[in-house]
Amino acid sequence: MRTQVGIIGGGPSGLLLARLLGLAGIDSVVLERRTPEYLRARIRAGLLEQGTVDLLDEIGVGARLNRDKLVHDGVELVFDGKRHRIDLKALSGKSVTIYGQSEIQSDLMNAHEAAGTPILYEVDNVSLHGLTGEAAQLRYTRRGESHQLACDFIAGCDGFHGASREAIPKDVLRVYEKVYPFGWLGILSETPPVNHELIYTNHERGFALCTMRSLTRSRHYLQVSAEEDAAHWSDDRFWSELKLRLPPDVAAALVTGPSIEKSVAPLRSFVAEPMRYGRLFLAGDAAHIVPPTGAKGLNLAAADVRFLAEALVAHYKTGSAALLDGYSAKCLARIWKAQRFSWWMTSLTHRFPEASPFERRAQAAELAYITGSKAGQTTLAENYVGLPFE
Ligand code: FAD
Ligand code: PHB
Repeated sequence: MRTQVGIIGGGPSGLLLARLLGLAGIDSVVLERRTPEYLRARIRAGLLEQGTVDLLDEIGVGARLNRDKLVHDGVELVFDGKRHRIDLKALSGKSVTIYGQSEIQSDLMNAHEAAGTPILYEVDNVSLHGLTGEAAQLRYTRRGESHQLACDFIAGCDGFHGASREAIPKDVLRVYEKVYPFGWLGILSETPPVNHELIYTNHERGFALCTMRSLTRSRHYLQVSAEEDAAHWSDDRFWSELKLRLPPDVAAALVTGPSIEKSVAPLRSFVAEPMRYGRLFLAGDAAHIVPPTGAKGLNLAAADVRFLAEALVAHYKTGSAALLDGYSAKCLARIWKAQRFSWWMTSLTHRFPEASPFERRAQAAELAYITGSKAGQTTLAENYVGLPFE
């Protein structure tokens, strides 16, 4: 089999890329390890920047998004038990959109099914070959048989634990990493959100976040130790702990109910450079991970893919390699700004077990400064809604 672009990974990055390429008349084949049912059920991100919403609209998968999305003009920060609203719209001119990643995944899969994009599920043992040669090749097994896929380029969209980043020689790849001494325990429930906008709380018992997927489905997160086991958290224990961390009026208004999903995600900042090696291009979580506090993971993945598709289209339409050659540097400039913001939001809102009394006081002062100053609020707002594409 042969194709123009072999895409490893059928998550948001891989499916967005396949769609952008398909619309431009460029062939691709997507190799995905999991089943379609698993992908549709996977609960992850929920907050989209306007640039991500625009991209989904442009590629014709925005119908359900535009019907079901919740648009938020502000966000709340809580510390010392007091609520502070940041008016994102007034400060940055932009809003943010709530729409679940699992819905985006389904919308993309439906569009690909209708378009007949070859997406091969339940593929194993993917390996990459010929990355610096005349042509690249993907080898994999499926239903017990070995296969080969010849391609001009390979897009590594296979997430943090995928095979593509590992195919870049160790002496070429530079890795920057920060692991945080805590994780997020998240639950999803069929309960109305406690507030019409998100609430990020810094409490002495640890960070808490009230977010949502719709007007009838809420998502909550608690800072827990990185080794915490979700099985040790009954729903009652989760809701009791959340109430302890929220301001009294929010805790009183909280509607609790059985969880539909409960899991612990570790927090990590990670960047691999460069994002290109010969015929291989990394995009999304394969190249970078942010702690979820800034809600940037999915949005960064969408931005990478937009640049990569533009570069591949330019190559096929004009023969110019300029955009492909500039891909890594262009993405990384924006990624590092989102990395800085995600690390900063995490530092501002979480309790670090090793923090000295001085550091705790400085954190409280920073929160007071940010919420009390228009310049401080603007800094948060313009990063949170998403920096412009340059
Ligand atoms: P992924 O979504 O990881 O997709 C990669 C795909 O590649 C997967 O489908 C995987 O099955 C497949 N794959 C992996 N290895 C192989 C292989 N060897 N062969 C074939 N296929 C392979 N971001 C936010 O903004 N907000 C959040 O609240 C948030 N919560 C998250 C919670 C969790 C538990 C996780 C893991 C991530 C979360 N993120 C969040 C991050 C966000 O979900 C990711 O940034 C986003 O999914 C990146 O998309 P991707 O397509 O690059 O990678
Ligand atoms: C979510 O809705 O899951 C969500 C929202 C904002 C974040 C992280 C997660 O910062």
